[in-house]
Amino acid sequence: MSDGSRLHLVVGCNGPLGLELTAQLVARGERVRGLCRSGRAAAPPGVEILAGDAADRETMVRAATGADVIHGCVGVDFTRWRELWPPIVEGLLAGAAASGAPLLFADNLYACGPQEQPLREDLPGTTFGSKPALRARMAARFLAAHERGEARVALVRASDFYGPRVRLSWLGERVFAPLLAGRPASLLGEADQPHTFTYLPDFAAAMLAVADAPAALGEIWHVPNAPPVTLRQVVTRIAALAGTRPRLRVLPWPLLRLLGLFVPLLRELAELKFQWDRPYLVDHSRFTARFGTPPTPLATGLAATVAWYREQELPAPA
Ligand SMILES: NC(=O)c1ccc[n+]([C@@H]2O[C@H](COP(=O)([O-])OP(=O)(O)OC[C@H]3O[C@@H](n4cnc5c(N)ncnc54)[C@H](OP(=O)(O)O)[C@@H]3O)[C@@H](O)[C@H]2O)c1
Repeated sequence: MSDGSRLHLVVGCNGPLGLELTAQLVARGERVRGLCRSGRAAAPPGVEILAGDAADRETMVRAATGADVIHGCVGVDFTRWRELWPPIVEGLLAGAAASGAPLLFADNLYACGPQEQPLREDLPGTTFGSKPALRARMAARFLAAHERGEARVALVRASDFYGPRVRLSWLGERVFAPLLAGRPASLLGEADQPHTFTYLPDFAAAMLAVADAPAALGEIWHVPNAPPVTLRQVVTRIAALAGTRPRLRVLPWPLLRLLGLFVPLLRELAELKFQWDRPYLVDHSRFTARFGTPPTPLATGLAATVAWYREQELPAPA
């Protein structure tokens, strides 16, 4: 456990994960410095926010000066990953190398690629597709940097996340906002395949647990998740919490691929069909054996998320 005196640099401080991590750190009495390009973040008072690009090594070296831990929580335009991620990886590593602070990278599970088995940390990085293969190369670069003593790095991997502050996600505003308004949820994917979801506060808590354990560096850790559920089951539970009818509209894959000819974002999403056309199960037993932290139950996470969406009074997306 931390003594509360460390300085954490949260890179990508204004996204849902960066904000959640910052909130948990502030609640623990730790010091936080945030970095994002806009220099604007809805962070609590007392948090220092810097404007800067994580892809710029000098910026990262300056921002990381004096930091005890670096959290990589950047998220980039889904249609520009190939161009935007590689320099950000190098920037994060430059900051970690110069400061000597451990880097916790908030990763997803694309690097595991299509599988017929639960996803484990020891699966080889995939060569499948564009974004999955890119994430596998990013992971390999991070772990090689650790291996060579260039920087100290751990990868903390979450599945599709949901929770307060999460709007752009498979289980985000296109599901919660319409259901609260009594309209059908608009879904991509498959309604009836079991799928592992991550509750965002569990993601942040897992990053902090790894940050507190120097011996856990140099490895991949899967965030603990509640048991998998189908999208239809999730929609039913959200609607029950919202007091509305559980209605859902699922965009079929052939239509998504057709629309992808005209809409770049849908084109990028089409290659992720493998996450939805079969059970998408994540094994987090290694994390719980090491850290003992159980995942937040789905009922608790959904109730907190519905409460957050109610507070926002968001218009339901068309
Ligand atoms: N969405 C999911 O379901 C999911 C699941 C598992 C893992 N993840 C991973 O979790 C991470 C965080 O996701 P998120 O949804 O919280 O991210 P996000 O909202 O997409 O982005 C977080 C922040 O990154 C900042 N940013 C973007 N480019 C930057 C740059 N070059 N330099 C500095 N800051 C930059 C942005 O602020 P500015 O625009 O002001 O710079 C933004 O506020 C990502 O790596 C994502 O792959 C996501």
